[in-house]
Amino acid sequence: MSIDHYAVIGNPISHSKSPRIHTQFAAQTGQNMRYDALLAPLDDFYQSVKDFQNAGGRGMNVTVPFKLEAYALADRLSPRAERAGAVNTLVFQADGSIEGDNTDGVGLVRDLQYHDVTLKDANILILGAGGAVRGVLAPLLATHPASLVIANRTAERAQQLAHDFADLGTQVSSQAISQASQIHGCGYDELNGKIFDVIINGTSASLGGELPPLPEKLLQPGGVAYDMAYGNEPTAFQRWAQARGASLALDGLGMLLEQAAESFYLWRGVRPDTQALRISMR
Ligand code: ATR
Repeated sequence: MSIDHYAVIGNPISHSKSPRIHTQFAAQTGQNMRYDALLAPLDDFYQSVKDFQNAGGRGMNVTVPFKLEAYALADRLSPRAERAGAVNTLVFQADGSIEGDNTDGVGLVRDLQYHDVTLKDANILILGAGGAVRGVLAPLLATHPASLVIANRTAERAQQLAHDFADLGTQVSSQAISQASQIHGCGYDELNGKIFDVIINGTSASLGGELPPLPEKLLQPGGVAYDMAYGNEPTAFQRWAQARGASLALDGLGMLLEQAAESFYLWRGVRPDTQALRISMR
């Protein structure tokens, strides 16, 4: 029986942990598959995907900077990819068509749930208004927080996102009309005097060791901080939160594992157990 082939495609890609994660998922679930890292030239994403598909590939994960190009390339989009405006998972169908999906948002919410973080009725702040934040807004709103504030260096981008997702803030549940989540977009200066239960950093500032300008008293004592980025050391944002009484200051490694598990499920119809990898990946 031939082995099914998958890959993560990006630029750069050598640092990616995805091959290790998916190889362990495959071993754990007894799936006959192989998963590699593929470097695509910045100007040749489309052909790189097509070449991989034509060589018999079954699916791909897509990472920086190609998630928008993957969105454009897909023949069909899942509702959550449509909402996210970006694709991180491609599924190659037997008829040659390509499905685009986005598992990043569900990955974040599952990781928060794994850590028993209560999102329902919480006051949540999300920092940043780029593609990474857009991708997680719908799954966050689906947990029915009391409020979701998006703060960004360029306030207009945050206001635009709040506007784009306003309809999800007034969802009606099957049982009853639930309390609408308030969604608001602003600049960092507007955060003075506000306090949040959960703060999520979705800016790329962490990658350069920087922090957005945050007021001192922003996190509820015992609140939760989550950095969607990760590294070998705690990020600047994790350290900021630890120094201000956070009960939990998490990095994005768990989100990476959970989005990978969801992609794996889309391809193989089997849900891997992320628990074992949480320890071995550290
Ligand atoms: P991504 O797809 O990773 O979200 P992006 O669309 O370039 O990438 O968005 C990066 C985000 O990080 C933006 O919200 C950006 O703020 P601006 O919209 O004002 O540019 C934010 N960001 C990057 N560096 C930052 C810094 N040093 N301080 C604060 N915010 C920063």
